[in-house]
Amino acid sequence: MKVFVVGAHGQLGKAFTLAMPDHVQLFAPTKNELDVTKPDIVKRAIHEAQPDVVVNCAAYTRVDQAEQEQDEAFAINADGAAHVAQAAIAAGARVIHISTDYVFGDTQSTPYLPTDQTAPLNVYGASKLAGEERVLRIATGRAVILRTAWLYGRHGQNFLKTMLRLMREKSELRVVADQIGTPTSAESLAQAIWSAAARPSLHGTLHWTDAGVASWYDFAYAIKEEALALGLLAQPIRIHPIRSEDYPTLARRPRYSVLDKTGSIAALGLHPPHWRVALRATLKDLANA
Ligand SMILES: NC(=O)c1ccc[n+]([C@@H]2O[C@H](COP(=O)([O-])OP(=O)(O)OC[C@H]3O[C@@H](n4cnc5c(N)ncnc54)[C@H](OP(=O)(O)O)[C@@H]3O)[C@@H](O)[C@H]2O)c1
Repeated sequence: MKVFVVGAHGQLGKAFTLAMPDHVQLFAPTKNELDVTKPDIVKRAIHEAQPDVVVNCAAYTRVDQAEQEQDEAFAINADGAAHVAQAAIAAGARVIHISTDYVFGDTQSTPYLPTDQTAPLNVYGASKLAGEERVLRIATGRAVILRTAWLYGRHGQNFLKTMLRLMREKSELRVVADQIGTPTSAESLAQAIWSAAARPSLHGTLHWTDAGVASWYDFAYAIKEEALALGLLAQPIRIHPIRSEDYPTLARRPRYSVLDKTGSIAALGLHPPHWRVALRATLKDLANA
């Protein structure tokens, strides 16, 4: 199988390339080599590689900054996604496109099915939803949209890394306790993408996160406990649960964005680890690095 990954050097892209199975020939250009906003370059690179599957992990992911950089967010997350899908289809490849729980709004307090009503609350979510719609239109029957949430991993910048840094620097922390989702390890999502890549007839919108639910406060508290146990943190730190109103951000975020994975578990033949188990594994890797 020949796989072409776009955004290979982001946190998910790195986890995905590192998890590559033996029988795969991988093309993993850098952002300098392949900018998704440049359709001719995208088309040429994918045509030359003639892959079976194109995986798009590239995105504009600065959720708050996107409120002030709407054009850039849409150029990458919507137009860029479309350029990748067009080039993939022109080269006869399938597309696996990564998307987000932030396509949903504040409409539910039970896990969202892939078919549930989308209602993004912020520019980032709107740009990702526009990307999903364009990919599905361009690559009908040949695209998998894989929505995920609260991603963290060994590579790149994420909530886990930020918390570890702040826990070492500060004497106490305040973390939002009224937004509920599922922390998801880039390593377990990478397995789900490889499983989707290996299933040529799979298409449509799927959800993939680790198992269980948490608030950002619960996630931070678990990071503290696991980091202390592994010696990544020398001293315990007091963490206070706070309301979203007490931590104003440019972008509004959903109060509840847990994704229902029932269909994806069957379709991909995988069971996600509980988020706390995956967190421990990632912290062990960081401790051994
Ligand atoms: N992070 C999360 O919590 C989260 C949650 C839900 C869904 N997702 C989705 O998961 C996917 C992977 O996200 P991630 O966390 O791995 O994000 P990331 O670490 O920001 O990686 C995105 C990559 O895309 C690259 N990129 C940006 N603009 C590009 C362009 N014009 N052309 C080519 N590459 C470009 C970035 O390069 P630079 O860094 O150099 O700009 C970066 O390497 C995205 O689709 C994201 O929307 C993420």
